[in-house]
Amino acid sequence: MDLPVEKWKAYVSQKWASLEPSLKKQLCDTVSLRDIIFLSFTLFRPEDEEYLQSLSEYYHVQKEPQRVPSYKERGNERFQKKDYAAALVLYSTALSHSEAGSPEAAVCYANRSAALFHLGQLELCLEDIARAQAEGYPDRLCPKILLRKAECLLSLGKLQEASDTLGHLETKMSADPGSNATSHQTLLHKFRQLKVGVGRERPSSACQPTARDGTQEDASHWEENSKVSHASPSVSLRFSTGKGRHLIAAEDIPPGQLLVREEAFVSVLRPGESFLLRGCAEPTSDKPLETEDLHCHRCLSPLLASVPCRGCSYARYCSRTCAETAWTSYHRRECSLGGLLLTLGVFCHVAFRAVLVAGVAEVSSLVKPPGGRDVEEPATGPRADEAEGDSAPIPGCDADGRYRGSYRAVFSLLPHTEKHSPEARFLGGLTAAALCRGLGDAGRSALLPGERTPESQEEPSAAETSPGLMVFGEAVLRHMLQLQSNSQAITALRESGSGGGPVTSREQVRLAAALFPVLSLLNHSCDPNTSVTFSSTTAEVRALQPIPRGQEILHCYGPHRSRMGAAERRERLLAQYFFECRCQPCLDELRPSSRERAARQRSGFCCPACRMPMQGEGLLRCSSGACEGPVPEDGFLRRLRGLQLRTEAALERLGQGQSGQSVELLLKCRLDAERFLSPDHLMVGEIEDHLARAYVTLGKWAEAAEHLSSSIQVVEARYGPSSIEAGQELFKLAQVLFNGCAVPESLGAIRKAEAVLSTHWGAQSPPVRELHAMRACLQERLGGHAAATARTPTGPQPQR
Ligand SMILES: *[C@@H]1O[C@H](CO)[C@@H](O)[C@H](O)[C@H]1NC(C)=O
Ligand SMILES: *[C@@H]1O[C@H](CO)[C@@H](O)[C@H](O)[C@H]1NC(C)=O
Ligand SMILES: *[C@@H]1O[C@H](CO)[C@@H](O)[C@H](O)[C@H]1NC(C)=O
Ligand SMILES: *[C@@H]1O[C@H](CO)[C@@H](O)[C@H](O)[C@H]1NC(C)=O
Ligand SMILES: [Zn+2]
Ligand SMILES: [Zn+2]
Ligand SMILES: [Zn+2]
Ligand SMILES: [Zn+2]
Repeated sequence: MDLPVEKWKAYVSQKWASLEPSLKKQLCDTVSLRDIIFLSFTLFRPEDEEYLQSLSEYYHVQKEPQRVPSYKERGNERFQKKDYAAALVLYSTALSHSEAGSPEAAVCYANRSAALFHLGQLELCLEDIARAQAEGYPDRLCPKILLRKAECLLSLGKLQEASDTLGHLETKMSADPGSNATSHQTLLHKFRQLKVGVGRERPSSACQPTARDGTQEDASHWEENSKVSHASPSVSLRFSTGKGRHLIAAEDIPPGQLLVREEAFVSVLRPGESFLLRGCAEPTSDKPLETEDLHCHRCLSPLLASVPCRGCSYARYCSRTCAETAWTSYHRRECSLGGLLLTLGVFCHVAFRAVLVAGVAEVSSLVKPPGGRDVEEPATGPRADEAEGDSAPIPGCDADGRYRGSYRAVFSLLPHTEKHSPEARFLGGLTAAALCRGLGDAGRSALLPGERTPESQEEPSAAETSPGLMVFGEAVLRHMLQLQSNSQAITALRESGSGGGPVTSREQVRLAAALFPVLSLLNHSCDPNTSVTFSSTTAEVRALQPIPRGQEILHCYGPHRSRMGAAERRERLLAQYFFECRCQPCLDELRPSSRERAARQRSGFCCPACRMPMQGEGLLRCSSGACEGPVPEDGFLRRLRGLQLRTEAALERLGQGQSGQSVELLLKCRLDAERFLSPDHLMVGEIEDHLARAYVTLGKWAEAAEHLSSSIQVVEARYGPSSIEAGQELFKLAQVLFNGCAVPESLGAIRKAEAVLSTHWGAQSPPVRELHAMRACLQERLGGHAAATARTPTGPQPQR
C-alpha cells in the first residue's frame, strides 16, 4: 500500500467524476506541476479536510498513557509464565505509550531488562538498565536492577565493572534502613553469591571469535567513481535520447564486483498490511509481529528492545541515536501528523520526508518561484540536437559535472507527469494539497519561517496559499509522481519459521520505500547481470556475470523472467514504469516459435497415466500422444489446491512439535505430487524443503540433506544455479550437513553456497561470514583429526 488508503482514493475519484467540466478540462490539458498543485489547492475544500480527518483518526498514533499499566500487567503475566518473548513485546508496547521521562517509562525499561536477561540478550539488558536509570528509576527499587546489571557484567566477563556495580549496590543497601526487610533477604543472598562469583571468575581469555566488522573493511577497499558518487570507477554515466541516463561498464567487470553502494536519500518504513487494516498497534497475543514492530523506523535494523518516539506511539527505534537523528532531521515535523501520513500513504510520506531532509531553501532553489517561467523539466535533459555530445551537461549533475546522491539528483528523476492519467495526477495533487493543509499554522510557520500565517478565520483559498507553501506542495507532488517509477523497495531476508532452530529459513520481505538517485540510473532487464541487496538503508549492486566493457549495467525492477512470462512482465513494466521492455529475454520469448514452445512446456503438470508432460492451455494433452485425449486444466488446478492445503496441514503439525506425523503427511503429499506435477514444479521443491525441515527437527540430518538436495534441483531449474534462491537452499544444505558431521560433503556445499551468496551479498555479509566460520571449524576438526590419527595409529578417533 504505497498509495493513499482506498477510502481516500475512492473519495478523490468521486470528486474527480463530479468535477465541473471546465476545471476537469484544465486538469486534463495541463502537465505543469505548478498548474496541477494550484488547481488542487483551489479544489481542496474544508469538507475534504474533514473527511480526511475522520479517516486519519482511524490510526491511533498518539500516546495513550492510560493504557500503560494494562500493557505492563500483561507483560508481567507473560513473564510469570516464562514467555519472555511475549513479555518483551508487551513491555515495548507499554513503553511506546508512556511519556518520555515518566516513572512508568523507567519501570517499563527495568521490567524489559528482566525479560532480556532471561532471553540471553545481555548487552541489550544493560542498555535497558541504563535507560531505566536515566529515566529516573525509583531509588528504593534500584538494588534490583543493580544486581541484574552486575550479573550481566559478570556473564560478559567484565569483572571490574561487575565488582564496581556491586560496590555501588552495597552502599545503596547499607544506606537504606529498609534493607533488613525480608524482601531484601533474597537479594542479599544473590548478592553474596555474585560477590563470590566475581572473586572466582578468571578474566575470559580472548578466545571468543569476535566477528570482524566486515562492512568497514569492505568500505576501505571502495574507490569511488570521480563522476558518479557511490559508484565504482568501473562504470560510467552516459546519456542518450532513447535511453536517458544510464550506466555502462567502463572496463570488463568480473562477477561479484561491487558496482554501486548507495545510502538511501530517504526511506520510509512500510507499515504491515494488518496494521493498516486494524488501524492501530494493538498487540494481541496471536498477532504476528509486523514490520513496524520489528525494524527500526530510521535504520531498519531488527528491533528487539525498541526506544519509542518521544511524541507518538508509532515510531520506534533501535537506539537513542537513531531516535534523535530521526527527530532532528525529519520526524519532529511528521510526528504530530501521524495518522494523516498513514492515510495519505507511503509515497506521500517519502515525498514529504525528501523535502524535509533537503530543507526548504534547497527545495525552493530548484522549484521555480511562482510567476517565474515554468514547465521546463530539468530532467528531460539536453535537447535531441545536443544529446550524446560530451559538452552537454547530464541532468541532475552539480555545477562541477558530478552526479551526486544529492537532492538535486533526486529532483532530476523523471516524474513522467504526461504519462500519468489526469485522474492520477489529480489524486497526487489533492493528496499533496491535503498534506500541506494538514501541517496547520504551527507546522507551516515552523517549516516556512518568515511567512505570514493567514490572519483571517476564513477558510484558506488557493489565492491565499502562500508562495512558500505552493513551492512546498509542488515539490511533494513532483516526488509522488516520481516515486511510481523510481521508488525502490528496501528488502531484507527475515528469518522465518521457529526461530532459533539449527537451520535458518529466510524469506524476503519489503521493509521500506526509498529513493536512491544513483540506483535509479540503472535501466531494467528481465534477466539482469547484477544483483541488488540491502544492509540497513544502503543498497549494493554487484555483477552476477562477467559484464564486458561497453555493455549497459542493468538490474531488474521486479518482474523477473523466472517469476512470470513475457506478456505479464511487459504489462507490469508498461503500467508502472511507462516503457515497453525490449530486453533480450522479452524479445526471445515474444518470437512466435518460442511462444508455442513456452505454451507447450508451461503447464507444469504431467500425465497421471504415463508421467509425460501435459501440454496446452485450458485443455491439456499428454505429450506422449498415446494417452486419452484432452483433459480440462481445471481438474489439475483443483488437485494442486488440494495438495497445497494438505501440505499446510502438515506444516501446522510441524509447528505444534509433531514432527513425526508431519513427516508422514509430507511423504504422502510428495507421492501425490509425483503423480500429476512435473518434477521441477515449484510445489515439489517446496514439499522437499518442508520435509528437510521436519527431519531437521528430528535430528535426522542425512534424510534432511537428501530432501534438500531434491529441493535444490527444483530451485536451480527454475531460478538458475547462481540465483539467490539457489544460494539460500545451498546455505541450508551446508548447515544440515555441518550439523550432521558429514565433513567432505558439507565442505563441498559450503564452497558452493559461498560462491553463490558472495556474488549477491558480498564476501563480508553475515551469511557468508557464517559459512566461513563453518568451514574454518571443519578444517580445524579435520586437522585435529589427522593429528589424532597420527598419534594413535591403531585407528581413527570417533568424530564428534
Ligand atoms: C516490573 O516492575 C514492577 C515494579 O518495579 C515489579 O513489581 C515487577 O515485579 C516487575 N516485573 C518483572 C517481570 O520484573
Ligand atoms: C540489619 O540487621 C543487622 C542485625 O540483624 C544489624 O546489625 C544491621 O545494622 C541492620 N542493618 C540496617 C541497615 O539496619
Ligand atoms: C531504458 O528505459 C527506457 C525508458 O525509460 C526505455 O525506453 C529503454 O528501452 C530502456 N532500455 C533498455 C536497454 O532496457
Ligand atoms: C546476463 O548474463 C546471462 C548469462 O551469462 C545472459 O544470458 C544474459 O543475456 C545477460 N543479460 C544481460 C542483460 O546482459
Ligand atoms: Zn536504528
Ligand atoms: Zn513520533
Ligand atoms: Zn524484459
Ligand atoms: Zn500420458
